[in-house]
Amino acid sequence: MWCLAALTAEDIRRSRWVSPPLTNGRIFMRKFLSSAALAVVMMAGFGSAHAADVKEVQMLHWWTSGGEAAALNVLKQDLAKEGFAWKDVPVAGGGGDAAMTALKAMVAAGTYPTASQMLGYTVLDYAQAGVMGDLTETAKKEGWDKSVPAALQKFSVYDGKWVAAPVNVHSVNWLWINKSVMDKIGGTQPKTFDDLIALLDKAKAAGVIPLALGGQNWQEATMFDSIVLSTGGPEFYKKAFNDLDEESLKSDTMKKSFDNLAKIIKYVDPNFSGRDWNLATAMVIKGDALVQVMGDWAKGEFVAAKKKPNTDFLCYRFPGTDGSVVYNSDMFGMFNVPDDRKAAQVALAKATLSKSFQSAFNVVKGSVPARTDVSDKDFDACGKKGIADLKAANEGGTLFGSLAQGYGAPPAIANAYKDVVSKFVHGQIKTSDEAVTQLVQAIDDAR
Ligand code: BGC
Repeated sequence: MWCLAALTAEDIRRSRWVSPPLTNGRIFMRKFLSSAALAVVMMAGFGSAHAADVKEVQMLHWWTSGGEAAALNVLKQDLAKEGFAWKDVPVAGGGGDAAMTALKAMVAAGTYPTASQMLGYTVLDYAQAGVMGDLTETAKKEGWDKSVPAALQKFSVYDGKWVAAPVNVHSVNWLWINKSVMDKIGGTQPKTFDDLIALLDKAKAAGVIPLALGGQNWQEATMFDSIVLSTGGPEFYKKAFNDLDEESLKSDTMKKSFDNLAKIIKYVDPNFSGRDWNLATAMVIKGDALVQVMGDWAKGEFVAAKKKPNTDFLCYRFPGTDGSVVYNSDMFGMFNVPDDRKAAQVALAKATLSKSFQSAFNVVKGSVPARTDVSDKDFDACGKKGIADLKAANEGGTLFGSLAQGYGAPPAIANAYKDVVSKFVHGQIKTSDEAVTQLVQAIDDAR
């Protein structure tokens, strides 16, 4: 079991986990790690000697909800079959902010896990800092260059080397709706943003909480990604949230997006502040709320609760975003671990990208495979739609990285974005004019 503890300099000196001195990434690393928490994560058994390969995988992740834990079990079982023990390093907190703080502290202390769950630009940051391993040999043997979509390779390959194994592709522009509540209020699929507002009004009139949301900055920003895509269209989303084009960021369309956010936020219940995303999903599952706007990890919760699409729940693209996919992908970032831990790392990477795992895991997780050659036959209707949508968006040039989910811009910019959206939601920023001004300023400062 892993524990949080203060690590002394002597612990670090004696540790066989100390990283090799950083070379070209050194200055960057100092800057990158400057905000690391003082507490560091350390492993029990730290410093013990191993003569042969260590048959154990340590994994840092934030998959602690019911659906997430069920999905992770698929991996644990696959690795157990190959004789690898699992050392779990869970750091609760949807979206992974807390996990990434813990990871920073571990890396600062030189105590790398075998792998860590990471999102796009974070992988690149660690790769640039020179602390990632190199899976290129395995990637070549396994043919990942051909099976993993280019959009993911942009984040899993750094400087020609494979540094991460993509686990899945999630997308954020979804509505998750309780079917019996929908039937009760006589609702139909909303095709436009205004339709959605009308639907929320119906739920309100029927005494049901219209919108299930957790008032945490990453959830609010994840929803806002969809609103921006719906309000401005695909070109606008790309320019504003992937290219960070200043004209788009300060445009009237961005103001209108904030106005739309102000409209939709009126439909949450008074207790939404701080609520975890999976509790918001549970409100929809139980029929206490009509809809949640969330990435398809929400579907993992429906699956864990044995609910079926089109019978118990409905999955629609956020109105006005059909044809586009705003994605993120969980990656297992692979650190430059000592030689006796490399075999376990390779086993983990191979298991992660095997076709059977890609199907079994993603069926449970709510995401879709990170390979283009996995059959959709075991996926439910929402999963099949997710796979087809991803293919079409990839081919049609309408696949965009989620800014809220680490695929639009580096973490400092994403954090600035989440902060502004959250201040707007919670009333610290009062108008959409002010929100736009602060967004441009915050992104500028973070660049
Ligand atoms: C991850 C998902 C996870 C979700 C909620 C996202 O950032 O990509 O895998 O389920 O956060 O924790």
